[in-house]
Amino acid sequence: MDQMSAPPGDTILVLDFGGQTAQLIGRRVRDLGVYAELVPGDADLGALLSGETAVRGIILSGSPESVYTPAGAVPDPRIYQCGLPLLGICYGIQRMTQDQGGTVAALAAREYGGMAVDVTFPADTASFSEAAGRFLAGFDPALSLSALQAAPAFPSPGLQSCTFTAWMSHGDSIIQRAPGFREYGRSVTGLPAVLIHETQRWFGLQFHPEVSHCQRGVEILAAFVFGVCRCKGGWTMERYLEGLRGSLPRRVGANPVLLLVSGGVDSTVAAALLLQVLDPDQVHLLYIDTGLMRKDETQTVSAALERSGARRVHIIQREDAFLDALQGLEDPEAKRKAIGDLFITIQEREAARLGLPEDCFLAQGTLYTDLIESGKGVGRKAQVIKSHHNVASPLVEAKRRSGRLIEPLDRLYKDEVRALGRVLGLDAAAVRRHPFPGPGLAVRILGEVTKEKCAVLREADALYLEELKRRRLYDAIWQAFGVLLPIRSVGVAGDARKYGWVLALRAVVSADGMTADVYPFPMKDLLEIAALITNNVKAIGRVTYDISSKPPATIEWE
Ligand code: XMP
Repeated sequence: MDQMSAPPGDTILVLDFGGQTAQLIGRRVRDLGVYAELVPGDADLGALLSGETAVRGIILSGSPESVYTPAGAVPDPRIYQCGLPLLGICYGIQRMTQDQGGTVAALAAREYGGMAVDVTFPADTASFSEAAGRFLAGFDPALSLSALQAAPAFPSPGLQSCTFTAWMSHGDSIIQRAPGFREYGRSVTGLPAVLIHETQRWFGLQFHPEVSHCQRGVEILAAFVFGVCRCKGGWTMERYLEGLRGSLPRRVGANPVLLLVSGGVDSTVAAALLLQVLDPDQVHLLYIDTGLMRKDETQTVSAALERSGARRVHIIQREDAFLDALQGLEDPEAKRKAIGDLFITIQEREAARLGLPEDCFLAQGTLYTDLIESGKGVGRKAQVIKSHHNVASPLVEAKRRSGRLIEPLDRLYKDEVRALGRVLGLDAAAVRRHPFPGPGLAVRILGEVTKEKCAVLREADALYLEELKRRRLYDAIWQAFGVLLPIRSVGVAGDARKYGWVLALRAVVSADGMTADVYPFPMKDLLEIAALITNNVKAIGRVTYDISSKPPATIEWE
């Protein structure tokens, strides 16, 4: 987060101890219109807790570890002295318990899934602290999310108790509360579920309010963020853009900026942003056509960039070089490596050929999730790092080291990037495009890639996507595409025998691509789309539908 000086306003810090849903906590807070920043659970918080920042509260996330083992990370002890409100979720409250003198131990059986929690409200509102009242308001079934945004001081008068279904995922439990903590809610199994400190603004939940299956989850977070931490909303993409209008020109000065564009949503939005915030003459856009792109991709990208006001677009055609590099390769990793290496070579050579000065800036459309996954200073150290998400080109690394790398989307999640694209006035179609992998059609043509196979797949894929748009199914799907299988099968065309390629159709729904479910097409759509493809793409004789979710399959086939 070194380059952004756009003040995001009131901030909630999320200490990420590595729980599966830690990122979701940040998402939920941002969806409430409050900026949330993830930092590793054991990060040094000196600067962030200096009192001069806009941090209004700290949430301690869940973790796969136990607080009583050395693997259980310990937060910066200053969180307990800084006076900011703390909310511990699962491991988070167990951590606070252990750190403050209570006891946590393993359960005989792990608790997982929906579970009823009973909350008891004190009869006399004067008997609990102001912060406790504001927090407990989040559990009051009569208070809506918008009511909670106004930070009510108490649950409804006379409310004595309520029950809701929380989402549990824990193998440890609090056996003895830390001094000063009082229990306000317990699960049907008799374990503590809601704890509040009597004098400090410290709160604990054994369940996961960030999980969508948790009833009142968002409301409970809203009660903490607005009621207890007194955050004001207002984290919007308009505001983010305004911040960049101030900070980016100052940082870049009159130097040229080179942005690598791929046609994907992220680099398209990054391009539109740089063009609006900087002088368009200073913004150089480099696009490498690998020949492994979707149909009409290069024309679509250059038209979109021109509409965004680009004046210096450099389109490099390298289809032959990529096909040469792929010749004879069948192994998926070998194909990916050949493409990645060649991409870097061409990128470095072309960047040099543009004759930009040594100290020019390099820009990339890196997202917040990319930083989290690659463990670059935010959130936990990634347990799953996908090599394809971090092509560490020497050029990028050199620019990063010299402080000349600009990643203007590095605080945003994918859907925030899409929202920013809309604020920047990009076409709805450009903003809603499905993700497309860097190695392109090469990982969707199983086995050896040839020019002919690229042409067949490009045609079939375009028909498929156009048809999804025509049927108004495109936006309901995270990602759809065709995969050309390395087999041919027998069929009939007219009266003749036909020996055609097999195409697999893929369509998945997903929140972030990390997990995915198969899109449940109405059978009629699937049959009609398959017929359309076999009627129009003569080389394809058979169409199948991939019904594998992720996991165990991945979204791409290679
Ligand atoms: P998988 O296949 O791993 O893909 O389930 C998850 C998401 O990542 C995209 N993907 C890639 N994106 N370069 C990229 O920029 C790649 O090499 C790459 N491989 C997969 C995939 O399309 C899906 O959205």
